[in-house]
Amino acid sequence: MLYLHIVFFTGLFYQVQKSTSWVSSEEDLLCQVNVIRECLDYSLGLLEAIESGNERLLMKECDSLQATINCFSVPRCLGNLSHSYRYFALTAAATLKKSKNACPNLDFEILERFFKKGSSMTCVDNTSVKDICDRKCECQDGGLASCYRVRKEFTKMSLEERTHYLKVFKLFATDPRYISEYEKIGKVHTVVPGKELFFPWHRWYVLTFENLLRQIDCRITIPYWDWTKDAAHWTRGSEIEDVWNPGPHGLGGNGVSPFNCVMDGSFKKGEYSLPQSAGGNCLKRHFNYSCTLRNAEQAKEIIKQPSYTVLRDTIYNDFHQTYHQCVGATLAFFKTAPYSPEFWLLHSFLDKLWVDWKKNNMDSKSDLTDIKYLMYETGHYAWEYLDADHLPGNVQVSYEE
Ligand SMILES: *[C@@H]1O[C@H](CO)[C@@H](O)[C@H](O)[C@H]1NC(C)=O
Ligand SMILES: *[C@@H]1O[C@H](CO)[C@@H](O)[C@H](O)[C@H]1NC(C)=O
Ligand SMILES: *[C@@H]1O[C@H](CO)[C@@H](O)[C@H](O)[C@H]1NC(C)=O
Repeated sequence: MLYLHIVFFTGLFYQVQKSTSWVSSEEDLLCQVNVIRECLDYSLGLLEAIESGNERLLMKECDSLQATINCFSVPRCLGNLSHSYRYFALTAAATLKKSKNACPNLDFEILERFFKKGSSMTCVDNTSVKDICDRKCECQDGGLASCYRVRKEFTKMSLEERTHYLKVFKLFATDPRYISEYEKIGKVHTVVPGKELFFPWHRWYVLTFENLLRQIDCRITIPYWDWTKDAAHWTRGSEIEDVWNPGPHGLGGNGVSPFNCVMDGSFKKGEYSLPQSAGGNCLKRHFNYSCTLRNAEQAKEIIKQPSYTVLRDTIYNDFHQTYHQCVGATLAFFKTAPYSPEFWLLHSFLDKLWVDWKKNNMDSKSDLTDIKYLMYETGHYAWEYLDADHLPGNVQVSYEE
């Protein structure tokens, strides 16, 4: 047990110095420290027991060890730092299970698999592989290179995947551990950047929100909703794949009078509310059934034409403003809009349109490279966000059709 103790307490410093690996490109030290802190919260009793060297005390800590294992079994931020802690949890579990069968029901199979995958991933050159955070990577010289986060179309994701995404979103939005961060990132939208910075600013915004969710599970990316594919039915929630479906894989439907509170789905009144600083109300929707959203034909047209300014103005007015207004209520006001899950599906989609436009118009220039001031609240210049293949923090984003 003394050995475990040492592994555990020296792990942090040891690993920080050694941090270069096949996942290092997007490594996030602070996120990793947070994960370790959080998971170890579950094992305070366990640590005390180890400290005391009292085996009987140790055997009483099976539940807290299981909680620690479960916590470490979710992939979070990239990097090796959490590795030694996973190792600690695994070793402790294996030891306890073996010795006198102290905790016979411990289940650490997922952690074991995860640990192996994270530490000894080999790949075949020129093939594409997924890393522990589900990024799509190219294999070069036996290692991973060029790893992309893949954002998916919401209605094409499996129901399990959708449910998981919404669960993580809701945890971030409601759990006391994260709620102040949720409030803070939404507040950034209090002053909306002008039309000029519409695309790069919102690219930063979606990415930043995505990073926050990835602290809970790094397999998460922000899905997009391409409503243009079936624009005539944008308000529908009755089909299982519909965005507004009331099941755990949907956002719930239109609000209900008199206050337009959403009363079904994962974000219904009583289960979710906006932060106090944004009014503290239920999530509200007020669909305008007379609205027609832009269709696939119009989307195709706009990403084909070469002018950046035409692209920006059309997307801003006809795709973006219209959607905000037609869904209505919480989404219709810039102070409250980011506190609705549909906000992120929308902006992920608009970002995809920008990516698609760029592919079609490689030579077209925007005037964003000339902007010499930092984008509002971001600490970044617009030109840093022009290319989804090269974003700050070594992040690369792609959109699955
Ligand atoms: C990450 O872990 C693997 C396996 O232990 C190792 O090969 C690699 O060098 C490590 N990198 C760091 C950050 O130490
Ligand atoms: C992988 O691709 C590179 C560049 O196309 C090539 O030089 C190399 O031989 C390929 N390696 C394998 C194992 O196919
Ligand atoms: C609903 O949409 C229609 C069509 O765009 C528009 O004319 C009308 O003003 C909207 N109604 C409200 C209350 O915003």
